[in-house]
Amino acid sequence: MRLLAIETSCDETAVCLLEASGDVGADFSYRVLGNALFSQAHLHAQYGGVYPNLAKREHAKNLVPLLEEALRQADSLNNRSVAIPLEGPPLGSLQEVLVREPELLERIIPFIETYKKPDIDAIAVTNGPGLEPALWVGINFAKALSHIWNVPLVPVNHMEGHVMMSMVENGSMRDFEFPVLSLLISGGHTELILSRQWMHYERIGETRDDAAGEAFDKVARLMDLPYPGGPVVSKLAAEARAAGMEPMKFTPPMLNSKDYDFSFSGLKTEVRKVVEASQPLTTEMQKAIALGFENAVAQVLVHKTIQAVDEFDVRTVVVGGGVSANSFIRSELAAKLASRDASAALLVPSPEFATDNALMIAIAGYFHALTSNGARPEDIIATGNLRLETSG
Ligand code: KG4
Ligand code: ZN
Repeated sequence: MRLLAIETSCDETAVCLLEASGDVGADFSYRVLGNALFSQAHLHAQYGGVYPNLAKREHAKNLVPLLEEALRQADSLNNRSVAIPLEGPPLGSLQEVLVREPELLERIIPFIETYKKPDIDAIAVTNGPGLEPALWVGINFAKALSHIWNVPLVPVNHMEGHVMMSMVENGSMRDFEFPVLSLLISGGHTELILSRQWMHYERIGETRDDAAGEAFDKVARLMDLPYPGGPVVSKLAAEARAAGMEPMKFTPPMLNSKDYDFSFSGLKTEVRKVVEASQPLTTEMQKAIALGFENAVAQVLVHKTIQAVDEFDVRTVVVGGGVSANSFIRSELAAKLASRDASAALLVPSPEFATDNALMIAIAGYFHALTSNGARPEDIIATGNLRLETSG
């Protein structure tokens, strides 16, 4: 099966063309035919976080060029021999589908007039969680293509995409056992999800306020460092660690709360107080703060994950979401897992696919496409707080 996948939940615009076969599980295999991504992070840097209307505008501007790029990589961007002007009812119905996306409509018309329908069986699109204005652009784009090309639509939960991305490697499914515990840490989410079988998700804990990535972003902003904060703060922390610096001491939040919930807003306030009391902030001080902050975040994430591994006899730990790119968190978790008597495998995504991308949406979309004929377009809506939870 060939799938086109579209991801626009936050500040990455991404399109992927995937060829996949096999069932969910060991015989699954895939080949990335085309993968195109544009990160808007540098545009949002001046706001210290993602600015939803700017994200929406940028998605609308970049989706068509990225689709062209992905299809070109796949050698599937085929010109019509003669451009066919979209007129009459086909144009009218496309205008209806894209009534809220005039900028996208303007770009999609010449694309459809110029290129033939590519060889695809389904279109997967992220329907949440994320920023709703941003999600809608991708969803409407998917609906427009599905309408014109007459292919089914598969809505995909972005967080399930992150889970799946950690489970695969080099075109196949990795070898692991259930129960699986997923630690999902991104700019918008921090949650622990237990899966006792394929595509079954039970939420056992989550953040009560800020997400882990959001805490990194806010701490960076407090220290006048650019967005996204995770890579910058962790780089400073790594330098401090390598130099044997003394960390600033912060309290790992909710470390002993006996549940699987997290909270990062108090930690951010602690950091703010230290920053305010240390003006002007020297680079040395920035490093000590970054080190102490990263230590506290890693400690609580690792502690709660291990606690859940013990309680639920977990055989595999999956780490997914942008913060999973953090090498200190990865290595602390690996060390703690290795020091236990019962063994549990650790699956992390390859670094280039740790942050948002469309490959993860294509893979999760494929598994859903295996068991469904797609959703009706009118039933696909952007859901900012979409949960990853199986009912029943
Ligand atoms: O999954 P993602 O790309 O987008 C969301 O769905 O939110 O995650 C982005 C988040 C940002 O908050 C960013 O600061 C954080 O991931 N991040 C990191 C690192 N790289 C990215 N946080 C800590 N350490 C990193 N190395
Ligand atoms: Zn994400």
